[in-house]
Amino acid sequence: MALCSAKTLAVLFILSAVPVAYIISVEIAPPSTHVFHYHSFGFFRECSKWDAANRRFLVSFMEGGVGAVAVPESHSPSAILEESVVVKDVDLAGNASLGLAIDRPRNRLLVVVADLIGNRFSGVAAYDLSTWKRLFLAKLSGPSDEKSLADDVAVDADGYIYVTDARASKIWKVSPGGELLSIIRNPLFTPKEWYKNLVGLNGIVYHPDGYLIVIHTFTGALFKIDLANGNAVKLISVVGGSLSFGDGLELVSPTKLVVAGNPSGRLVESSDGWESASLVAKFKGPAHRLATAATVKDGKVYLNHMFGMGYPKKKHAIVEAVFSSWIFT
Ligand SMILES: *[C@@H]1O[C@H](CO)[C@@H](O)[C@H](O)[C@H]1NC(C)=O
Repeated sequence: MALCSAKTLAVLFILSAVPVAYIISVEIAPPSTHVFHYHSFGFFRECSKWDAANRRFLVSFMEGGVGAVAVPESHSPSAILEESVVVKDVDLAGNASLGLAIDRPRNRLLVVVADLIGNRFSGVAAYDLSTWKRLFLAKLSGPSDEKSLADDVAVDADGYIYVTDARASKIWKVSPGGELLSIIRNPLFTPKEWYKNLVGLNGIVYHPDGYLIVIHTFTGALFKIDLANGNAVKLISVVGGSLSFGDGLELVSPTKLVVAGNPSGRLVESSDGWESASLVAKFKGPAHRLATAATVKDGKVYLNHMFGMGYPKKKHAIVEAVFSSWIFT
C-alpha cells in the first residue's frame, strides 16, 4: 500500500512536473517577439484593445470590470506596466466582462457583460472613454430567456452594435443608444454535431465595406453578414487550413484578418471582398497563456492572453504576433 501510494505520488509528480517545467522554460526563455508585460490583480483577462488616442491598452476582467494599461511614450521595452481599474460596476457584480470594442467616433468603449457560469444574463454596456461614465447598459438576455453567453462585440460606421452569443449562436443587434433592436439567427450558425455547439459564435468584426465577419469557435467557420442586404449570411470558403478554436478577430487591413486562439495567431487574407479567403500564416506564442483576442497597435498585431502568472501580483502578457512569409498550401 505504502509502495503503491509512493509510486502513485512519483507518477503524479512526474506528470505535473513535466508541464510545469515546460511552462517555466517557456516563461524564462526570451520571447521571440515584442511583449508588453503588465501587473494586474486578476488572473484572467479575456480581451485587450489598443486605445491609440490615449496610448493605453484597455483590458476586460473575467471577474467583472475594465482596466487601463497606460504605455508612456518613454516606455522601455523591458519595463513592466501597471493595470489600473477604470470600470467596476456594483450592479453587474457576479458577471464577467468579455469582448471590447472601441467606438472612436462616439468616444466610447463597448463592453460585453455576461453571466459566465449560469448563462442567465447577457448585456452590453457603453462607457465614455474620457470620464468612464456609463452611458448605457443594454440587457440582451435574462433568466427567463434561452441560456446565452454574450461574448464579443463590433460596432458599425453608424454606431449600431453587434454582440455574439457563444451559447446559442446568434447575434444581437443594438441601437447606438442602447436599445435591443433584433436578433440575427441562421441555420448555418449551428453545426449538426451537438458537441460542436459547446462554444459557438465568438469573434466579430465590422468591415468598412458594410458587413460583419464572424467566427464559430469549434468549427472555425467564418461567416460574412451583409448588413445592407437584410443581414444575409454566407459561409466564407477558407482554404489553406482550419480556423477551429478561433476566438477573437481583428482586421489588420480590409483584406487581412487575424484570428486569435489556438494556435495563438492565424492570418487570413481575402482578395474578393470576403467571399473566399485563405489562411496564409500562423504565429506561435506562449500557448499555455492562451491567446483570446487580437488588436492592432501602430500597424503591428498584438495578442491578448487569458492567463496571468505570479503572486501576489499577476503578470500578464500582450504579445506581438509576427507572421512570417510562411505559406501554407
Ligand atoms: C449580472 O448582472 C445582472 C444585471 O445587473 C444581474 O441581474 C445578475 O444577477 C448578475 N449576474 C450574476 C451571476 O450575478
